Amino acid sequence: MGPRRSAASSCGRLLLPLLLLLGASGFFQSYAVEVDIKDASNATCLYADWMMRFLIKYESNNGDYKTTTLNLSSSVTHNGSVCGNDTQAALVAVQFGEGHSWSINITKNNETYQGDFITLTYNTNDTAVFPDAKRKGPITVLVRDPSRPIQLNTVFVCHNSFVIEAENTTQIFWNVTMQAFVQNGTVSKKESRCPADTPTSAPTVPPTIANVTTASATTLSPAPTTAPKPVENPDTGNYSLKSGNKTCFLATVGLQLNVSQEKPLLININPKTTVADGACGNTTATLKLNDGNSTLIGFTFAVKNTSASVQKFYLREVNVTLLNRLNGSVISSADNSNLSKWDAFLGSSYMCRKEQTLQINENVQVHTFNLWIQPFLVEANKFATAQECSLDDDSILIPIVVGAALAVLIAIIVVAYIIGRRKSYAGYQTL
Ligand SMILES: *[C@@H]1O[C@H](CO)[C@@H](O)[C@H](O)[C@H]1NC(C)=O
Ligand SMILES: *[C@@H]1O[C@H](CO)[C@@H](O)[C@H](O)[C@H]1NC(C)=O
Ligand SMILES: *[C@@H]1O[C@H](CO)[C@@H](O)[C@H](O)[C@H]1NC(C)=O
Ligand SMILES: *[C@@H]1O[C@H](CO)[C@@H](O)[C@H](O)[C@H]1NC(C)=O
Ligand SMILES: *[C@@H]1O[C@H](CO)[C@@H](O)[C@H](O)[C@H]1NC(C)=O
Ligand SMILES: *[C@@H]1O[C@H](CO)[C@@H](O)[C@H](O)[C@H]1NC(C)=O
Ligand SMILES: *[C@@H]1O[C@H](CO)[C@@H](O)[C@H](O)[C@H]1NC(C)=O
Ligand SMILES: *[C@@H]1O[C@H](CO)[C@@H](O)[C@H](O)[C@H]1NC(C)=O
Repeated sequence: MGPRRSAASSCGRLLLPLLLLLGASGFFQSYAVEVDIKDASNATCLYADWMMRFLIKYESNNGDYKTTTLNLSSSVTHNGSVCGNDTQAALVAVQFGEGHSWSINITKNNETYQGDFITLTYNTNDTAVFPDAKRKGPITVLVRDPSRPIQLNTVFVCHNSFVIEAENTTQIFWNVTMQAFVQNGTVSKKESRCPADTPTSAPTVPPTIANVTTASATTLSPAPTTAPKPVENPDTGNYSLKSGNKTCFLATVGLQLNVSQEKPLLININPKTTVADGACGNTTATLKLNDGNSTLIGFTFAVKNTSASVQKFYLREVNVTLLNRLNGSVISSADNSNLSKWDAFLGSSYMCRKEQTLQINENVQVHTFNLWIQPFLVEANKFATAQECSLDDDSILIPIVVGAALAVLIAIIVVAYIIGRRKSYAGYQTL
């Protein structure tokens, strides 16, 4: 490493802060890849040395979605890599394991070079990585490189990790040194550092990045010195569970986590990447959400008898697990199994459009938005009548109690009147 490491553009300035959060630095059992392509005069014209790993979500035989980690193997080839020139894009291409490959093509103009597209092909025939994949064979994911252009004769360097997400994959890169269109056979000593390596400059990254990273990382405060940014409300997702071919659980909700181990962090759950799992039952039902981005949230509902004839359901338990997205190990896990929220009559649904907060433990809160949920007795794939949160139990019960009392009062008056009339009639007759 050292001065020899140079780097090309491709990777980006993406989501470093996330990795800070998830404890990115450390030791990973991964192999570094080095690609050093020479031109006709045997001078280096393309140089890259980096580490990467992939988290891939796939459908298993029984229809569940699983996330697996694809690592580089010890034997990596770089067939097809080319230096490129003014008219032809440079290409860094590697092949590894049982039919997997990754590549990036890089274009240049007068002053800069820039990654164009990243192509990942993973082969679900590889049973070591995808033991029970429903669909077997190669799957290709194409994503535009979100990185900004690099000056020519400058090496791109990024020691910290960053992430690029595309379809069902999370591509994680670190320890990157890359330079395309190397001049005079020598990797440059001039470095262009990624924002991850220069956290103080991170807040000034151009706005285009925000678009790329919306789901996962932008919500995290980029620099220790910066106050956490207020986050937009999360997008609302629609989730459901089935039992056989009948929908048995319906949920519409926008979810945001407040994870404050050291400083508060807000994470919006992206419905587009979130998969629902869980189980329906007669007295308990659980909805488990996996956001495809190392966050798992579980909601357990139960049925209670409020009186001999009235049954209600309520939210009893919520748990939140954050995984290290580099190796899938648990970073933190929070559970509150003693909740009593969101109750509604069995057979109806519960609705609360305004923001609500569930306190899971002292460090973790779940904020919900636009909530509409029905964990039991879903019929015809539709929500039943909703009980709204703005109406609390008292405001529903008072009219019932008052109505019942009135009815009883009227009955007493009527009975008293009839008895009174009978008595007076009888008295009249005796006269
Ligand atoms: C995952 O990485 C973290 C830090 O990056 C490390 O502390 C932990 O031991 C790793 N877990 C496994 C199972 O490799
Ligand atoms: C880079 O690769 C992608 C995918 O193969 C292709 O669509 C694109 O045209 C290539 N770009 C250049 C400049 O060759
Ligand atoms: C590239 O160079 C050509 C001629 O050398 C010039 O006309 C053009 O404006 C330059 N483009 C950029 C983006 O600098
Ligand atoms: C995957 O494996 C199946 C059976 O083992 C085989 O028929 C198929 O050709 C393989 N596909 C690829 C792309 O290797
Ligand atoms: C990055 O590369 C250096 C030099 O090869 C190595 O010592 C270090 O452990 C690597 N970092 C990570 C996070 O793998
Ligand atoms: C490459 O070599 C030429 C001639 O030897 C020199 O003019 C030019 O500055 C060199 N470029 C770099 C980047 O070293
Ligand atoms: C699924 O639905 C069909 C008709 O809509 C029904 O005949 C079948 O028994 C159902 N299967 C299950 C497992 O409920
Ligand atoms: C996040 O949680 C912390 C600690 O529980 C709290 O102080 C802070 O106000 C919360 N922030 C938001 C936006 O909920």
